Amino acid sequence: MKHIIITSFSVLVFTVAVAALALPIKTKTLVLDSPAFQSSSGTLAAVQSYVYLSPDMSSFKDKVKGFLTDLQVGDNLERNTDTACERMKLFATLGTPEQKVKLSIQGCNDAKPELPRTDHNGIAISDSVNLGTCSFASSGSSTLTLKASGEDDAPATVYFSPPHGLGVISDIDDTIKITNVTDHDKMAQNTLYKDPLPVPGMPELYKSLAQSLTTETIPPQFLYVSGSPMQLQPFLSSFLNSTYPASKGPIFLQTFSIFDLPKIFESLGSGADAEKIEYKVSQITRIQKMYPQKSFLAIGDSGEMDPEVYGEVYRRFGKDFIRCIWIRKVLDAKNNPARFVAAFKGVPTEKTRVYEDEDIESLEGINVAGSQC
Ligand SMILES: *[C@@H]1O[C@H](CO)[C@@H](O)[C@H](O)[C@H]1NC(C)=O
Ligand SMILES: *[C@@H]1O[C@H](CO)[C@@H](O)[C@H](O)[C@H]1NC(C)=O
Repeated sequence: MKHIIITSFSVLVFTVAVAALALPIKTKTLVLDSPAFQSSSGTLAAVQSYVYLSPDMSSFKDKVKGFLTDLQVGDNLERNTDTACERMKLFATLGTPEQKVKLSIQGCNDAKPELPRTDHNGIAISDSVNLGTCSFASSGSSTLTLKASGEDDAPATVYFSPPHGLGVISDIDDTIKITNVTDHDKMAQNTLYKDPLPVPGMPELYKSLAQSLTTETIPPQFLYVSGSPMQLQPFLSSFLNSTYPASKGPIFLQTFSIFDLPKIFESLGSGADAEKIEYKVSQITRIQKMYPQKSFLAIGDSGEMDPEVYGEVYRRFGKDFIRCIWIRKVLDAKNNPARFVAAFKGVPTEKTRVYEDEDIESLEGINVAGSQC
């Protein structure tokens, strides 16, 4: 309900703003990194883009500064405010509805990349963007670049993977990146201005998985499914690029439009468990439709609802789709055995593993390709 009110408010603001300006609008377009897959009708990609206006950065900066002051950031208020503004700048934007996004893609013939018009949040999304005949289609997993026509920003990456082979579905916050979701202030600091740090040992583990999950020369497809807002995509994508270069992949993020920093952090940390589960299950259901024959190692943590999400996906799609579930035990989270028993109802015990940080190094030795978990 809250979302609906905020959404119709943003449409109203946008309409009034455009009418008042009576000028041609100069929008910008962000295209997110996308998975591509083989279907009977050719090579398809699941593409999401966001078309927006940047109305007022100065008042946004004041808001960010106010928020950081409340957090008692200390000496470096100015510098941290600048960092936070840069990271969070998409929150200051206004999604523009009814926009047509023209995509241009390299390396594919007869490509007709088309997206439906943007919705009331400025989002255009399609899981069946036809890429035509691409040069990578016959080889293993590969990438090419995709951008919105006329945009100067760095292009998005399309990650193609053939129908067979293995993959990793991974959470981000507190699974591969220290976010401290269970501690509100720490989470805000880690997200807004602190240099993002990996959970120690995870970059090495993911690098080794990129090797050990390669079967018949097909490298694993890494897909990141996070409950974080889409506005954090540039920050998270650059973190993956610099810290997890061997296991890069598209990031599935939530799209909702909120302008209010305190509300953003409330929604990240708390929020109804059932909604969080439903959201991630729906994203993994999209992935299952793209890669119904692949088999995934699902990696998450106990800080939010990953055990419940992966348990549900296992029950829904079975052991061929979800080959193993690994859950990092987060300090101060709900880690009682009864929780995991309930979450993994119907999942054979040998398919699941709840690990502590001191176990991370030993995870490399597990023969996941050979069906160990
Ligand atoms: C934040 O996360 C790190 C890494 O998991 C952990 O060592 C630390 O204790 C956490 N801090 C808080 C306040 O939760
Ligand atoms: C990814 O990292 C590489 C190497 O650090 C860098 O050269 C490149 O510009 C980065 N790409 C993006 C999109 O951040």
